[in-house]
Amino acid sequence: MYPKSPLLAKPARSVAPARFAIALLTLFATLAAGQTVELAVDASKSGAKIDRNLFGQFAEHLGHGIYDGIWVGPDSSIPNTRGIRKDVVAALKAIKVPNVRWPGGCFADGYHWRNGTGSKRSVTLNPDWGGVIEPNTFGTHEFMDFIEQIGSEAYVSVNVGSGTPREAAEWLEYMTAPEATTLRKERTANGHAAPYKVPYLGIGNESWDCGGNMTPEYYLSQFRIHSRFVRNYNPAQQENDKMLRIAVGPGGGESRWTDWTETIMKGYQQHTWSWEMNGLSLHNYTVMNWQDKFKSEGFGQDEYAKFLAETLKMDGLIAKHSAIMDKYDPQKKVALVVDEWGSWYAPLPGSNPGFLVQQNSLRDAVLAALNLNIFARHADRVRMANIAQMINVLQAMILTDKEKMVLTPTYYVFKMYVPFQDSTFVPVTLDAGKYTHGDVTLPRVDAIAAKGTDGKLWLEVTNVDPNQAVEVQVKVTGGSAKGAVGETLTAPRVDSINTFEAPNTVIPRPYSAKASSGQLTLRLEPKSVTVVSLE
Ligand code: AHR
Repeated sequence: MYPKSPLLAKPARSVAPARFAIALLTLFATLAAGQTVELAVDASKSGAKIDRNLFGQFAEHLGHGIYDGIWVGPDSSIPNTRGIRKDVVAALKAIKVPNVRWPGGCFADGYHWRNGTGSKRSVTLNPDWGGVIEPNTFGTHEFMDFIEQIGSEAYVSVNVGSGTPREAAEWLEYMTAPEATTLRKERTANGHAAPYKVPYLGIGNESWDCGGNMTPEYYLSQFRIHSRFVRNYNPAQQENDKMLRIAVGPGGGESRWTDWTETIMKGYQQHTWSWEMNGLSLHNYTVMNWQDKFKSEGFGQDEYAKFLAETLKMDGLIAKHSAIMDKYDPQKKVALVVDEWGSWYAPLPGSNPGFLVQQNSLRDAVLAALNLNIFARHADRVRMANIAQMINVLQAMILTDKEKMVLTPTYYVFKMYVPFQDSTFVPVTLDAGKYTHGDVTLPRVDAIAAKGTDGKLWLEVTNVDPNQAVEVQVKVTGGSAKGAVGETLTAPRVDSINTFEAPNTVIPRPYSAKASSGQLTLRLEPKSVTVVSLE
């Protein structure tokens, strides 16, 4: 039964326990070394461009997202440039924010741009978000200044719900007209003679709900009117860099939302020369129970696993709406724009519930990576996405408290993904394995690869499993894999966070690996996000 080796030439009754012990030792050794995953990158093939706009941000007049988060005013003791925080600008420059969506969200459909221009600002209310005073000290010029300071581009949402096509048309004329119109003169008098660039225009926000409770048919006719009259006059945007018009799209996967996509896309298919649509938005937050939401801090593996299972539904949602879009737009001219996504937890105790203040943990870093990878895999249709929201609100990049600032785990993921901006998708195949906790089973490993604009082959691997390391054996067709250099991000616990007092708990660390006997193996820590370039 057993080979007659000196080792095994023992009385039969002692062989079984010995084999059992060896098997156990082998098992423990494997667990300590990590699970092995084979990952093949086919660098001879390439897919869609991973548009830099997938890494866009969203900044709404909500809580401390704008006021305190960006704007402190020129007289503040917090270091600022023309009222805009210097620390926040420096941090955002480092993640190369491609575009910022502003001024909302629900706020956009109550926003009247004239309240926020000129030397006398109207003081209004913010009924959607805490009913607080809106001083309008941060308006068009301040937003554009901020965009310029961080080196980004403007994604402006115009008010369809409580505004008029005329109001929106005049705002665009004010921002973009080069000729000596009255509105251009007003802009010049307010400090900016040159036309502003508005590359992206959102026409309404969630018009099926907070944006005016419209039916899809009613919204479509509003969209057509706005698309016709809300013009961009900037000479630099007439031939190239034309302004892209983004329509309100679905907010989920149920029939109400598929009907919405059908109606708008059918309308698009029949569009004439006099109106245009370049994008359809999709809003999808990761939230477990709107009435009793998960906490953003102080949780365990149970809530880690359930929340990540929920976030992976983004993939099916995109697939569902893309399939409808394919029917009416097989050439994929209209982008699916996921301009609100991210985690939505219970407000932090003691905070104003209308301010949507939450912590940001290692779980959010993993969640961000999983979603960015989903967008990359759908990059032929999904060409823009905006995480909600940039500062102090929901899944933020940055948290501030007066003069203090801390960068969140999500911020670091966006920083690590910079090489993927405008890269070209490269297919990856892997046997991801499984991570099971209670009744939740998730793919243990997730990965994407791309050719960067720097000519390098970049690889991202997320080890979702919070308990076990993973050994990824990398094979590259059409390229080499002699080594890998980059960064990895993990932390002691799934709910580890960065605080003002301890800002470096969840930060990326340098990572490198060398091939041995022709085999490149990446050993990845449990619950980690790793981005490397392959050599
Ligand atoms: O991001 C917070 C809110 O969520 C936005 O204002 C709205 O569009 C969405 O419902």
